[in-house]
Amino acid sequence: MPKTQKERLEELRQRRLAATAGGGEKAIQKQHEKGKLTARERVEILLDPNSFIEYDQFAEPESTKDIKTFPGDGVVTGAGRIDGRQIFVFAQDFTVMGGSLGEVHAKKICKMMENARKVGCPIVGINDSGGARIQEGVVALGGYADLFYHNVMASGVIPQISAIMGPCAGGAVYSPALMDFVLMVKKTSHMFLTGPQVIKEVLNEDITAEELGGAITHNQTSGVAHLVASNEEECLMMIRSLLSYLPLNNMEDPPFIKSNDDPFRREKLLSDIIPNEPNRPYDMMDILFAVVDEGSFFEIQPLFARNIIIGFARLDGHVVGLVANQPKILAGVLDINSSDKAARFIRFCDSFNIPIITFQDVPGFLPGKHQELGGIIRHGAKMLYAYCEATVPKLTVITRKGYGGAYIVMASKQLHADLNLAWPSAEVAVMGSRGAVNIIHHAKLAKAKDVDKTRKKLQAEYDEKFNHPYIAAKRGYIDDIIEPQDTRPRLIQGLEMLLNKHEEIPPKKHGCMPM
Ligand code: HXC
Repeated sequence: MPKTQKERLEELRQRRLAATAGGGEKAIQKQHEKGKLTARERVEILLDPNSFIEYDQFAEPESTKDIKTFPGDGVVTGAGRIDGRQIFVFAQDFTVMGGSLGEVHAKKICKMMENARKVGCPIVGINDSGGARIQEGVVALGGYADLFYHNVMASGVIPQISAIMGPCAGGAVYSPALMDFVLMVKKTSHMFLTGPQVIKEVLNEDITAEELGGAITHNQTSGVAHLVASNEEECLMMIRSLLSYLPLNNMEDPPFIKSNDDPFRREKLLSDIIPNEPNRPYDMMDILFAVVDEGSFFEIQPLFARNIIIGFARLDGHVVGLVANQPKILAGVLDINSSDKAARFIRFCDSFNIPIITFQDVPGFLPGKHQELGGIIRHGAKMLYAYCEATVPKLTVITRKGYGGAYIVMASKQLHADLNLAWPSAEVAVMGSRGAVNIIHHAKLAKAKDVDKTRKKLQAEYDEKFNHPYIAAKRGYIDDIIEPQDTRPRLIQGLEMLLNKHEEIPPKKHGCMPM
C-alpha cells in the first residue's frame, strides 16, 4: 500500500527533526559545557533573523560497520542574509563525530563555495572540527584538497571569511589560511599543523595548545588570524560588521552608506598633533579617527605588527582601506611583519574595488641582522609589488617622515599613486638629518672642536635645504601641501574625483609576486 500524502509529510517532519538534532542531546550538552555554541546556534546568531535556508540536510555517507552516520554529516550548510545582503555559510558541527570531515561533509562545503562563487556572494565558514575523518582515510584527505581548490578559485572573486570556533588542526588549517579573514575566539579556538603532543614527541618541548595555536598567539605573534573575540557571539557580530565594508564580489563596489558626518569638517586638533621634536612619537590613530566618518573605523589585525595600522573606514559614506605607519610603535618603521600585513591588505582592497588611503610617517626599514637574515628584502618587496599593481584609487598623506626606500614603498607618486598630499611638517628626504650629516660631513665632524655644536649647525642646514616637502612638491611628486585640518575635506574631494578611475595593467596570466 503506497504511503498517503499525510504519511509522507509526517515522515519528512520526522526526518527533518532527526537531521537538526546534531549529535544528540549529550553531545550538545558537552559542547555547551565547553562554552561553545552548536553549529545551528552560531548560524542563527550570524544571520538576519529567519533568513537561513539550509541545504543538504539529508546528505549522509553510506553506512559502514566502522562508522555511525548522521544526516547532514556534521556540517550545516546553506544561504542566508546579513543586513539584507545574501551570503553562503557552512558551520561544522562538532557534536557529530567531532565535526570531522569526510567525503559528504566536504562535498557539502564545496557546493556552497561553488554557489557563492557563481552567484557572487561572500562565504562564511565556521570551523569546529577534529580534522580529517579517520575512518574515511584518504577520501577525507581528498575532501580537504577539494576545499583548498575551491578556496583558491574563489580568491579575489568573493570575500571569504573563516571563524575558528574550536579545534582546527593538521592540514585542515589551510582552508582558513587560504581565506581572506580569519577570526578566532579566546580560549576555545586553536589552530596548528602539529599539536602539542607531536611537538613533545619529536622535539621534547612542552607547550600548551593555547600557547601554540590559541587566539592570542595567532592574532599577536604569527599573524595567521586577523581578529580576536572574547566569545562566540562577539565573533559572529564582528563578521557582520566586517561584511558591511565589503562588496559582495569583485564586480561590485563596496556598499555606500550615507554619512551624517560633515564632509567639510576641519579638525583643528590635527594642526597640533605633530610634536616639535622629530623623534617624539604620536598616535596615528588620533589622525585616522579625526579624518574618517565618525564611528566608521574597523581595524584589521590590531594586535599584529602594530607598527603599521590597516583597516576599513568610510569617507563621506565611501568605503576605503587605510594603511598607516604608527609612530608610537617602533617609530613606525617597516619590517618583515608589517610589510606582510600591509601587502596582503592592499591586495585585498585592490581585488574588491576598495580605494586605498595611505598615511605616511616612516623613518625607514628596521635595520638589523634578524631582519636581513629573515628576508626583509623579499618581504618589503611584497608591499612594493602590491602598491604598484593596485589599480584602485590610491591617495597618500605624508604627515611627517618620508625617508629613503620606505618613502617610496608607502604609496609614493612613482608607484602610481593618484593623489599625494603632504602636511607642512613632512620630511621627505633620503634620510634624517643626523644620519645624513654623519655621512656627508664626516670630515668636518672629525675636525670639529665642538662636535655637538657643529653637528647641530650642519643638521639645521640640512633640514633647511632638504628635509621638507617643498622639493618633492616642486617636482610634482607631491600634488599639494595642505593644512592638517583640511585633510578630511581634501581626501573626500580627491576620492570623489577618482571614483571613476580606470587603469589597466599589461595583459598577463598573472604576475610573479615575490612571496
Ligand atoms: C573521526 C573524530 C575525529 C576524527 C574527533 N572525533 N576527531 N572522529 N575522525 N578526526 C570524534 C571522537 O572520536 C569523539 O567521538 C568525538 O569526535 C568527540 O571527540 P573527543 O575526542 O571526545 O572531543 P575532545 O575531547 O573535545 O577532543 C577534540 C580533539 C580530539 C582535540 C579534536 O578529538 C582529537 O585529537 N581528534 C583527532 C585530531 C586529529 O589528529 N585529526 C587529524 C588531523 S590531520 P565519540 O563517538 O566518542 O563522540 C588532518 C589532515 C587534514 O586533519 C589534511 C588536509 C590536507
